[in-house]
Amino acid sequence: MTSAATTPSSVTVRVPAKVNLELLVGAPRPDGYHPLSTVFHAVGLFDELTVTPAPEWGVGVTGQQSLGVPSDGTNLATRAARALAGHAGVDEPVHISIHKEIPVAGGMAGGSADAAAALVACDALWGLATTRHELELLAAELGSDVPFLLSGGTAMGSGRGEVLAPVLARGTYHWVFAVSEDGLSTPAVYAECDRLRGDRSVPEPEPSAEMMTALRAGDAHALGEALHNDLQAAAISLMPALGDVLDAGLEFGALGGIVSGSGPTVAFLCEDHEAALDLAVSLTASGAVQDVRRATGPVHGAQLVPAPRPL
Ligand code: C5P
Repeated sequence: MTSAATTPSSVTVRVPAKVNLELLVGAPRPDGYHPLSTVFHAVGLFDELTVTPAPEWGVGVTGQQSLGVPSDGTNLATRAARALAGHAGVDEPVHISIHKEIPVAGGMAGGSADAAAALVACDALWGLATTRHELELLAAELGSDVPFLLSGGTAMGSGRGEVLAPVLARGTYHWVFAVSEDGLSTPAVYAECDRLRGDRSVPEPEPSAEMMTALRAGDAHALGEALHNDLQAAAISLMPALGDVLDAGLEFGALGGIVSGSGPTVAFLCEDHEAALDLAVSLTASGAVQDVRRATGPVHGAQLVPAPRPL
């Protein structure tokens, strides 16, 4: 543990959103989770989370995307901080302040990102130097997407999404996100996927050669063709307007479009920066989309923001 003289008064961490470039979903396991083969890709829409020592645990949320984020003990960031405290035997409550840019309940892992950020921030605040492996184990208990948000980049996910493996990926990709004002519940989308499949037998999910080849080559056109999400039909079934959003983006020239994770955010891949600007303008003008964001990927996972130097 660090001495009081070197303990920082607060720690800030920046953490990105994710899209799944490929999301293949198997039949539900006995524990209710679905086996996945997925390719996670971290994109530059960021939440910033600051932890400050406080007399009791608390959380506050600000930013355009703060509506609907729980500000009590059910907040995933609070649960993450308390899980690390329990693991390390620390009894030092913190106030967590989250500035949200990542859409809430949007299929971009906003809650999971905040949990990953809270682990990294509290580890630094409390001077624990927890190993990466231990942080990943804690992360996996908090949610299937949390381990990926610790590392970021582009990575394969299996198990229920928490088992990560590196993937050879070249290039920087330009994305436009059509953000919906309404969220979709992840369990509801998985349940709808099962319902739509009915009694059909579902193969074990395995990464596609098409996706791996596109990423290895850094070929945006091939990646646009290879984007695939088994949850997309279920998300559209629960929110039919998403089908129109996808059609609009593709008509306006996107290389590919996909519902992000369990939705309802729709991600469009563009040729370059200019094309992404053009698509964002066209989608906004069309009125088919409530809110539009641009970002590039891949980007790093949760990272400490250096404290400003004293003058
Ligand atoms: O792991 P996480 O808490 O993010 O998952 C949220 C919900 O999404 C789970 O309760 C489950 O209903 C569904 N899920 C699933 N299979 C996965 C991941 C999530 O069925 N691989």
